[in-house]
Formats: sequence, C-alpha cells, structure tokens
Amino acid sequence: MFRSGKGLFIVALADFLADLDTMAEQAVSQLAAVTDDEALEACRVKYLGAKQGLLKGIQKGLAKVDKADKPLAGKRFNEVKSTLEEALEQARNRISQQPTSKIQGPRLDPSLPGNPHRIGHPHPLTQTIEDLKEIMGRLGFTVVDGPEIEDEWHNFEALNIPASHPARDPLENFYLATAKHAVGPMLLRTQTSTVQIRVMEERKPPVRIISLGRVYRPDTPDATHYPMFQQIEGLLVDRHVTMADLKSMLRLFAGSYFGGDVHIRFRPSFFPFTEPSVEVDMTWGDGWMEMGGAGMVDPHVLSSVGYDPDEYSGFAFGLGVERICARRHNVTDIREFYRNDVRFLHQF
Ligand code: PHE
Repeated sequence: MFRSGKGLFIVALADFLADLDTMAEQAVSQLAAVTDDEALEACRVKYLGAKQGLLKGIQKGLAKVDKADKPLAGKRFNEVKSTLEEALEQARNRISQQPTSKIQGPRLDPSLPGNPHRIGHPHPLTQTIEDLKEIMGRLGFTVVDGPEIEDEWHNFEALNIPASHPARDPLENFYLATAKHAVGPMLLRTQTSTVQIRVMEERKPPVRIISLGRVYRPDTPDATHYPMFQQIEGLLVDRHVTMADLKSMLRLFAGSYFGGDVHIRFRPSFFPFTEPSVEVDMTWGDGWMEMGGAGMVDPHVLSSVGYDPDEYSGFAFGLGVERICARRHNVTDIREFYRNDVRFLHQF
C-alpha cells in the first residue's frame, strides 16, 4: 500500500490479492472444521457477514485498488466470494447430515452430578450365617449340609418322634405329593435336627458339627415367625459331655456374636430327641425373646444311629437365624428380611 499523489490510499494489486487469498484460505479451513450449527453460524458471520464480515472489509479495499487493476481484482474477489459461499454450503450440508445431538439424546453435561452406582453386599441373613460359621469354627465345629426335602425317618422317627406324635400331623408339615413307588412320604424338613441323624449315621464319635439351612413350617407369618426360616443346628457327641458344656458353649457363642450386653437364659422344656431339654432365650428390651431349643441328646437317638449311650453323651441345639440376626441389628420384624426392599437391605 502506498500513498498516492492525491492523498488517497491506493492499494497495490499484489497486496489486495494476498489479503484476499489469506482470508479465503483461513475461511475454507475453518468451515471445513465446524461440527455444529452454532460454530457454522459464527463462521458465516465472521467471513461472509453483511456488515462486519472479513469479505466485506476486503470488498471495501477493492475500491482503493488502482483503476487499471480493478477488473482483475474484481474478478478474483468474485471468485473467492463464490468459493466461500460454496464452502459454507458444503459445511451446512455436512452438519445437517451428521446425526444430531437431538436424535442421540441429551448432550453430555460433564458438570452434572454423576449417577451413583450402589455397591451390593451380602444379605443380612447371609452375613449372620457367615459370622456364625466363623464363631463356631473357632470353637472347633465343622460345617455340614443336609437336604431340605426329607423322609420321615430323618425328620421324625430317628429323632424319637413316633407316628402318633402330634408334630407329624399333616397340617403341621409341608408333605410332598410323592409317587406311589417312592420310598415313603417326603416332606420339607421342619428342623435342621435331621442333619444330626445324617451325620451320626455316617460317622463314629467324636462328632462336633454345625449345620445351617432352611426349614419349613405352615406358620402364619408375623413379626417373629415365617413359614420358611433358617436354623443353625449344633451337635457335639463325645465321652463325658454334660449339660454344663452345652450351657457354657451357648454363652460363649452368644457373647461372641452379640457382645456382652445380650444375656441368655435356659428354661426347662421338652423335645423328643433331647433329655433334658431347654429353651434358650435372649434379652431384648425389658423382656426375653426365644432363640431356639437345646438339650442333651436322648439316649434313644444315640442308639437309633448305633452309638452306645453308655459310652457316649452329647448335646444339641437348634437356633433361629432370623431372630439372632434381628437381635443383633435391632430389627423388630423378621418379615423384613424377606421383603427384599433395597431401602431396608442396604442398611446392613
Ligand atoms: N429342632 C428343634 C426345633 O426346631 C430345636 C432343637 C434342636 C432342640 C436341637 C433341641 C436340640 O424346635
């Protein structure tokens, strides 16, 4: 650019064309890079805007080009202008064809709080079962399993519950409809004491086992009952086992699981398979809550599995896992454990 004699700014053709080309190059590459409508519009205003667009600015410079050079400058200007319009059109088509964010759903907003993923954990009853296994394991008891579908021998007969016993009433049990040729009537076990028999049938004393699992009774559900619940059964048979062993073992067990502030007591009771028998209660609030039954294995039971009752004695206990778990966590209704409401379960 130089000053003319007349005081006008004359723009040299070479400068004009250089400005034009630089601007065109920038515009084309920016338009090729835009990916959304907003950026496209910003680009259009910047280069092709009617008032302040860079192309407009260059057009003003055209007026100052030397007269002789004007036709060429004007021609080049028009070429660049249509190149830009074409590039703009291309960019517009490209953006309209790409899947828009509206179609794909809301755009990612990294400033929004995330969706927390709740981390799962074992059911409270499962946690209690694991804890009980651990405590009893330290006391030398090994875990054994037994079937939930039982025959009358293991659920009743071998446990000294004869056919005339009211506990065998069909209304007190879930009998299964079994085929005629089957061994005999089958039922869902009502107690884990069945496992005592299964273990003693297979092993010679000494025996020191626990068994945890589901049992079934046609009870109406309420805060402390459920037609299916879990028991922890314990059996210890050896020489010179006494009631004192049973009581101290259960005290140790309760102390380990609940800590010092839950006390237990033993009430005289009756079970066909233990003699003497006790009911085991734990403190809860101002009162007591039954936790299960226990006693010294009845000599009849020992004989029925081929153990010599003069040589061996033993104790057994069967406790309700739901109640133990409820006591530990102060849950006042054991039905909560089976409602599967995550709001309840996630607290444990
Ligand atoms: N099986 C008894 C019940 O379910 C509990 C029990 C187990 C009692 C072992 C004595 C010995 O009620």
